[in-house]
Amino acid sequence: MAEWQSSAAVSLLLLLLSAFIPPAASEAAGGLLRWASTLHNLPQSNISTWPRAAANGSPCNFVGVSCSAAGDVVRLNLTNSGLNGTLQAFPFSSLPNLTHLELSVNLLTGSIPPEIGLLANLVDLDFSLNQLSGRIPPEIGRLANLQVLHIVENRLTGAIPDEIGRLESITELALYENRLTGPIPSSIGNLTKLARLYLYSNELSGPIPPEIGHLSTALTELFIDTNQLSGPIPASFGNLTKLTTFFIFDNNLSGAIPDEIGNLESLQYLSLHTNNLSGSIPPSLTRLNSLILLHLYSNRLSGPIPPGIGNLDSLADLELSDNRLTGTVPASNTLCGGIQNLTVHSNNFSGSVPTSFKNCTTFIRVRLEDNQFTGNISEDFGIYPNLQYLDLSRNNFHGEVSPSKWVSCPNLATLRISGNRVTGEIPGPIGNHPKLQALDLSSNQLVGQIPLELANLTSLVKLQLSGNQLSGPIPLEIRSLTKLDSLQLASNRLNESIPGSLGELTQLNDLNLSNNQFGDRIPEQLGRLVHLSTLDLSRNSLTGAIPSQLTSLSSLDRNPRGQQDHEQQVLLAPGFDTKIMYSDIVTATDRFDPAHCIGRGGYGTVYRATLPSGIIVAVKKLNCSDDSSEDDESHKEFLREVEALTEIRHRNIVKLYGFCSQSNHSFLVYEYLDRGSLASVLSQDNSGARELDWGKRLNIVRGVAHALSYLHHDCAIPIVHRDVTSNNVLLDRDYEAKVADFGTAKLLSSDSSNWTTQAGTRGYIAPGKMSFV
Ligand SMILES: *[C@@H]1O[C@H](CO)[C@@H](O)[C@H](O)[C@H]1NC(C)=O
Ligand SMILES: *[C@@H]1O[C@H](CO)[C@@H](O)[C@H](O)[C@H]1NC(C)=O
Ligand SMILES: *[C@@H]1O[C@H](CO)[C@@H](O)[C@H](O)[C@H]1NC(C)=O
Ligand SMILES: *[C@@H]1O[C@H](CO)[C@@H](O)[C@H](O)[C@H]1NC(C)=O
Ligand SMILES: *[C@@H]1O[C@H](CO)[C@@H](O)[C@H](O)[C@H]1NC(C)=O
Ligand SMILES: *[C@@H]1O[C@H](CO)[C@@H](O)[C@H](O)[C@H]1NC(C)=O
Ligand SMILES: *[C@@H]1O[C@H](CO)[C@@H](O)[C@H](O)[C@H]1NC(C)=O
Ligand SMILES: *[C@@H]1O[C@H](CO)[C@@H](O)[C@H](O)[C@H]1NC(C)=O
Ligand SMILES: *[C@@H]1O[C@H](CO)[C@@H](O)[C@H](O)[C@H]1NC(C)=O
Ligand SMILES: *[C@@H]1O[C@H](CO)[C@@H](O)[C@H](O)[C@H]1NC(C)=O
Ligand SMILES: *[C@@H]1O[C@H](CO)[C@@H](O)[C@H](O)[C@H]1NC(C)=O
Ligand SMILES: *[C@@H]1O[C@H](CO)[C@@H](O)[C@H](O)[C@H]1NC(C)=O
Repeated sequence: MAEWQSSAAVSLLLLLLSAFIPPAASEAAGGLLRWASTLHNLPQSNISTWPRAAANGSPCNFVGVSCSAAGDVVRLNLTNSGLNGTLQAFPFSSLPNLTHLELSVNLLTGSIPPEIGLLANLVDLDFSLNQLSGRIPPEIGRLANLQVLHIVENRLTGAIPDEIGRLESITELALYENRLTGPIPSSIGNLTKLARLYLYSNELSGPIPPEIGHLSTALTELFIDTNQLSGPIPASFGNLTKLTTFFIFDNNLSGAIPDEIGNLESLQYLSLHTNNLSGSIPPSLTRLNSLILLHLYSNRLSGPIPPGIGNLDSLADLELSDNRLTGTVPASNTLCGGIQNLTVHSNNFSGSVPTSFKNCTTFIRVRLEDNQFTGNISEDFGIYPNLQYLDLSRNNFHGEVSPSKWVSCPNLATLRISGNRVTGEIPGPIGNHPKLQALDLSSNQLVGQIPLELANLTSLVKLQLSGNQLSGPIPLEIRSLTKLDSLQLASNRLNESIPGSLGELTQLNDLNLSNNQFGDRIPEQLGRLVHLSTLDLSRNSLTGAIPSQLTSLSSLDRNPRGQQDHEQQVLLAPGFDTKIMYSDIVTATDRFDPAHCIGRGGYGTVYRATLPSGIIVAVKKLNCSDDSSEDDESHKEFLREVEALTEIRHRNIVKLYGFCSQSNHSFLVYEYLDRGSLASVLSQDNSGARELDWGKRLNIVRGVAHALSYLHHDCAIPIVHRDVTSNNVLLDRDYEAKVADFGTAKLLSSDSSNWTTQAGTRGYIAPGKMSFV
């Protein structure tokens, strides 16, 4: 196929063609072949057979081409055909009868040519999942027969042209995941056949045009979420009585939720979360009898939940958290018809939970934390076979942890009741939760011993029992909690000696046994906890020394002395056998002299430092400015990075050796990677980029994929990096990729329809958890 690179060969073929085939067909074939010859990789693409097919006759034999009986090309379907090139030479004028043009899932770049408007018979146009850029040409408005337009997941910029309002036959318009800016054109209100409008995940701004409310005859799905739209939700939307799905979350909408939303009688999914909506929840919403999902969280809504919400028979997911709502959760039997997820945390709710809660056997995720609910936890809740997540923390609940209730929820993964007035003992049968990963009963009034049966919770990652009146020893059996990452038993009355078997919990990151009555020697076996980043044994009656293996902890607090002083501070170095002293870093960088600078990130400068041991490390020093608010932001970012990196260990994630958090000197110490960032290697046009052969590139992609998969799926708390770019992928001597720069990372609570706000470099954000239904 090498001859394909030669335009002389193409011309010869075209000449041959014109001798055998009718003029219209030969023009179409010639146009297609000419376009194919402009692709960068024709021989490797699925249309490499076109020339041979052409030699046999008309374009109708070309892979992907369909013709009418009359021999006109009517369909071109080259979905996922490995096409790398542009549309500039595409033979729009030679394909007047084309009804279907499908070029999705290729590597098409450049802009969409205005000649697209010549395809007057086009019914279906799909350019999705390419890398098309530039503006949508206004000429697209000439496609009066177009029914389906898909240009999703490209890099389109600029405003959506007003001419889009001329697509009078259109039923489905999908432009999501591009970089479109400007307002939504009001002319979309003319598209009376439009049933599905998907404009989400762009940068659209300005108000929502009220004209969209005119689409009452056909519109069933409206997705305009994840943009920068502002202003109110137009009252005219109350006319959209066929609408089943209405998503406008993650915008900047203000004003009240219009009463007219209550007219949308077909509505099943209504998501308005993460906006700036105020006022109260309109009582008219209680007329939405088909509603399955109602998300109003993260707004500024106030007032009570309208009582009738509890009568919506189909409601399965009600999320109202992070508002200023007051009153009680409506008492209603039907609320428990099929409700799975009820999150009302971080509001000002008070009173007891509805008595109907006892019967809500469909509960999966329930979050009531950070309110002022009252009631008895063992009497007001029932047995929930499907319950996975329950958080009642920081309310005014009392009562005991009933062995017959919580203990009969076999799917429970998270149980948090911290910061209430829970009394009594921790029941042994709580150990019958093979799936429990987080148990937080801290800051209550629990008494008695830590039950042996807790050792049966072999999935447990976090165990928090601090701030109670527990007594007796730590059971030796705790050694079976091998996945434990955090063990918080501070401020109780625990006594006897610390069991050496704690040393078997080698995944432990945080261990806090302070303010108890532990005696005897600090067990040497604690030296095996090489992943520890914080250890607090202070305020006990312990003797002996912290095992020498642990003297590199970031935060070390034990009886009787406090932390070492500033200049002597030893930095955290889990799994790193050399201690790093604060003064070593300062000396090795000549007090952060620019001569040692190897790069600058969003919020800091990176230095190369050779330690006295000869080991080279990279030191990222936080920017310090006089403006304290800016300082505060970068400090938060710093802590996020530390938090993210201390949680994780993976061969494709850059290793954090230590950190120092002082008001004047905050820095992170990382492993040093010889080859710097992927971006810098690719930009060295001769040496680096050539050295980086396809095998190595594939290996890099594989490494990054492993790292992201690990972050998303294997961490106790999923982490979304949110800024994966070639600048943040570093390469070691063997070109092994390591993902770095976690400044914008986001820890997702395991309870998460938490649709994160985006951060970092747009377009490179690793796919996070989608909240789609
Ligand atoms: C286009 O081709 C792809 C791959 O062969 C196929 O999956 C898809 O259904 C086709 N599209 C249409 C509309 O025929
Ligand atoms: C194009 O070729 C690739 C690689 O052989 C194959 O995976 C893909 O399915 C082909 N596409 C079509 C539409 O046949
Ligand atoms: C597409 O072609 C361009 C130009 O030859 C090349 O630089 C690029 O690497 C190709 N992309 C892929 C994914 O093959
Ligand atoms: C194809 O398009 C040409 C030019 O518009 C037109 O003359 C011809 O009738 C069309 N063929 C069919 C089958 O529609
Ligand atoms: C389409 O909508 C625009 C703006 O809403 C309006 O000015 C125009 O008259 C409409 N055109 C037609 C043909 O209805
Ligand atoms: C649409 O809604 C507006 C405002 O609620 C109303 O004035 C108008 O009459 C409605 N139009 C239709 C066609 O129902
Ligand atoms: C949100 O909208 C208000 C006006 O309603 C505007 O002042 C503010 O800058 C917008 N915020 C963002 C983040 O776009
Ligand atoms: C939300 O709206 C209020 C006024 O209602 C405004 O003061 C505030 O700036 C808005 N917040 C954002 C983030 O736009
Ligand atoms: C409720 O939450 C669970 C777990 O997050 C999820 O799988 C389920 O789809 C949610 N139910 C609804 C109706 O959204
Ligand atoms: C719970 O369900 C049972 C059986 O369906 C019923 O007898 C009882 O009244 C219900 N309790 C509440 C509080 O709704
Ligand atoms: C739970 O713990 C108790 C006491 O340690 C033990 O007897 C029992 O066999 C354990 N049950 C399971 C299911 O492991
Ligand atoms: C989403 O996650 C962030 C960070 O974990 C948290 O601050 C926020 O409260 C969460 N929002 C919801 C609605 O869960």
